[in-house]
Formats: sequence, structure tokens, C-alpha cells
Amino acid sequence: MAVPLEIVILAGSPRSLSYTRSLARRIGDVLRRDGARVALIDLHETPLPPLNPELRGSARTHPDAGVATLLRLAAAADAYVLASPTYHNSYAGVLKNALDYLSIHDFRYRPVGLAGHGGRSTQAVDHLRQVVRGVLGVSIPTQVCTQVSDYAGAPGDAGFYDVVDTDILDRIERFSKELLLFAEHMRDLRAVAESPR
Ligand SMILES: Cc1cc2nc3c(=O)[nH]c(=O)nc-3n(C[C@H](O)[C@H](O)[C@H](O)COP(=O)(O)O)c2cc1C
Repeated sequence: MAVPLEIVILAGSPRSLSYTRSLARRIGDVLRRDGARVALIDLHETPLPPLNPELRGSARTHPDAGVATLLRLAAAADAYVLASPTYHNSYAGVLKNALDYLSIHDFRYRPVGLAGHGGRSTQAVDHLRQVVRGVLGVSIPTQVCTQVSDYAGAPGDAGFYDVVDTDILDRIERFSKELLLFAEHMRDLRAVAESPR
């Protein structure tokens, strides 16, 4: 049996009750159903300290447990999902802080799926595309951008809003399949690119 793909999802809302986190969880559920292993880092539950580049260390040595977990998961990632609310026509600062702990080493030859929440604006994901290019990741073409009416009116018992809009649900299906297709091919490409010549 093929080795499952490892996907790391960063949910970039600092709010406790968050549409972005609900979207990230839904995407994670679909990726799992499609055969991937998924780890979700919720930047509300696991707030990371502001980056001090002098403390940038390895997963084993970093003094903050959340940062150490991020570095450990990134080291094994075949692909990422970055999900953010729209903040001031862009993506959230807590997500930028998390990404600044990572590097080209974590993203090269790895696909990245982008998701945003806020009036179906693409501003957050548009800006994330630039950041992903900067660390040599490959953003997949399909992205998911939602608005409040794409969700059930009230959160469920677990504190998540269910995605109910059928177009968005279809798009999440396409997003998942595309991310896994890219991840599978790029894992092979990585093995060739990183093998000694
Ligand atoms: C600092 C800040 C800036 C925001 N800027 C925008 C914006 O530029 N455009 C927009 O549509 N919504 C903006 N919003 C609204 C958020 O996108 C909205 O509250 C969204 O639900 C937050 O996502 P969450 O539910 O995942 O926390 C802003 C909210 C905050 C707190």
C-alpha cells in the first residue's frame, strides 16, 4: 500500500469561534477521507510567540512547545493548507508569524492549498500566493474563499460552523483531489531532486 501523504493545515484565525477554523476542519476531513494523514495547527489553540530569529531552532531545541510541534510537523509534510481570515485586505498576522518560523527547506517541491474567509474576497489567498512563492512552495490553482452565508447560521456543539453552500462544498472536493494529486507527484519529484547525483 502507498505511504499516506502527510498534510499540515495552518488555521490562521486568532478567534475562538472562527469560520476560518471551521473551513480548515472541513478541508481536513475531506483530505482524510481521500486517504491523507492530516495535522491541523490552530493558531488560536496554539498561539505562537512572535518570532525571534535568534531563537530559530530545530524541532528538538526550540523552547516553545507550539513552535517545536510546527517545526516537527513541517519536517514531515508532503503538502500544506494555509487558511486565513481576511484582515485589512490581506491575511492574518498570526499566520505570517507562523510562516516566518518556516523556510525554503520546508516548502521546496511541496504543494500548498490556499483558503480564506471574509466576503469571499481573494485578498488573503492572493497575498499568500506571493509568500508561498518566496519560500519556493507551489500554490495549487484551486482555492476556497468563503463568506458567512456559506455556513450554517449557528455553530454546532463542538464550536464549528458547518459549511452548507453546495458550490463551496464542491470546490472543497476539487481542492482536496488537486492538492493530493500535486502532493503525490511532487513527492516523487522531491525524491529525484534530493537524491545524490
Ligand atoms: C483586524 C481585522 C481586520 C479585518 N479586515 C477585514 C477586511 O479587510 N475585509 C473583510 O471582508 N473583513 C475584514 N475583517 C473581518 C473578518 O474577516 C471577519 O471577522 C472574519 O469572520 C474573521 O474570520 P474568523 O471567523 O475565521 O475569525 C477584519 C477583522 C479584523 C479583526
